Amino acid sequence: MKFLLVAAVASLGGLLFGYDTGVISGALPFIKTDFALAPAMQGVATAAVLLGATLGAAGAGIISDRFGRRRVILAVALLFVLGALGSAFAPSLVVLLAGRAVVGVAIGIASMLTPLYLAEIAPKAQRGAIVSLNQFCITFGILVSYLADYALTGASANWRWMLGLGAVPGTILFCGMLTLPESPRWLAGQGRIDDARAALRRTRANADVEPELAELRTDLLQQGGSVSSWPALFGHAGRRPLIIGVALAIFQQVTGINTVIYYAPGIFQNAGLSSASVAILATAGVGGVNVLMTVVAMRLMDSAGRRPLLLAGLAGMIVMLLVLAGSSYIGAKGSLAAITVASVALYVAFFAIGIGPVFWLLLSEIFPLAVRGRGMSIATVSNWGSNFVVTLVFPGVVAALGSATAFLIFGVLSIFAWLFTYIYVPETKGRSLEEIEAQLAA
Ligand code: BGC
Repeated sequence: MKFLLVAAVASLGGLLFGYDTGVISGALPFIKTDFALAPAMQGVATAAVLLGATLGAAGAGIISDRFGRRRVILAVALLFVLGALGSAFAPSLVVLLAGRAVVGVAIGIASMLTPLYLAEIAPKAQRGAIVSLNQFCITFGILVSYLADYALTGASANWRWMLGLGAVPGTILFCGMLTLPESPRWLAGQGRIDDARAALRRTRANADVEPELAELRTDLLQQGGSVSSWPALFGHAGRRPLIIGVALAIFQQVTGINTVIYYAPGIFQNAGLSSASVAILATAGVGGVNVLMTVVAMRLMDSAGRRPLLLAGLAGMIVMLLVLAGSSYIGAKGSLAAITVASVALYVAFFAIGIGPVFWLLLSEIFPLAVRGRGMSIATVSNWGSNFVVTLVFPGVVAALGSATAFLIFGVLSIFAWLFTYIYVPETKGRSLEEIEAQLAA
């Protein structure tokens, strides 16, 4: 089987993640009118997905260790379809919220399991690009959701179409996944060495899979052969990856990316972009920058390496956030609005080349197999939990302290993220997952 096909199907999980989180920005105004939502309920409608995702991520590790990566991705695809149709046909607000929460659970599981599965099936030399395909699909999904929202604005029952369209990639993911192999690493962890060999053969065109299999077996022997253990996660081998994973998860969110992804039109209007449609167009532009720079990151990931991209990306984010704080402080409006639009676009570009893709990639690489599922779960929960908090708190902070202060806070937190990376984050380029494990345990 062609390896790229495997990767393309699996990364549909990322596309659904992006589409289903991005779509709400354009759907909310219409949902608000249809159900006469008070501001607090609008917050709930947005946050339903984030809460569901936190929950889904919490369970994802244990269930994927127990039932295998492939079967859980199949179940997730069904959840995506169910949630999308449930929200689209919702006769009442309660059903709509339930549908969005179900989609959220699916996003939470997929956000962790897609990079994990990709990392476990990828050959080491291309692992950076392959796993970053997930982030590419996330950004592409966000862009598609902006465009779908824009195109459907005038349609009748528009928000139902916006939310329901997620059922299409969900169905494709389900059908595609039926044809894909289980992760060879998970199979080996179950003691199913022959199945692991067969799975490796299906994803490694013409290559001799025995050396890779031997490396896997040695690694498992050293770990006592099991694939799921809490003590190991908090013990010697798991502690360092856990600290790095959770810290990067939190830094990815508290440096402000989703205030831009979810609230960009508002930010632009505040800066004086007169009409709502110009603001939405500028937002789609930012979505496009996000996709393009992720492609650049994919190309550099296996050559430049993870650490340089992370450090350079964070440094750029720091500068742009300080510029944004400054321009908000002096109230850059009118012709100066261009400064805001350009800084937001550059800020997103630096996110897309650094902590956007690198976080999910490192997360899939740094944990030993025995604790990979659980370790990634905890870090992914931290990611969604901090996303939830920032999304909820941001409008209040802007109202109370002004957007200059909000950007300044993100800027200072980015400086911490840079320092943390500089001191603690290892380079993982070109090493097998088993070599990385040995390096981090040393
Ligand atoms: C983050 C999301 C974010 C997206 C933007 C992902 O890596 O986890 O929270 O919305 O990037 O591209």
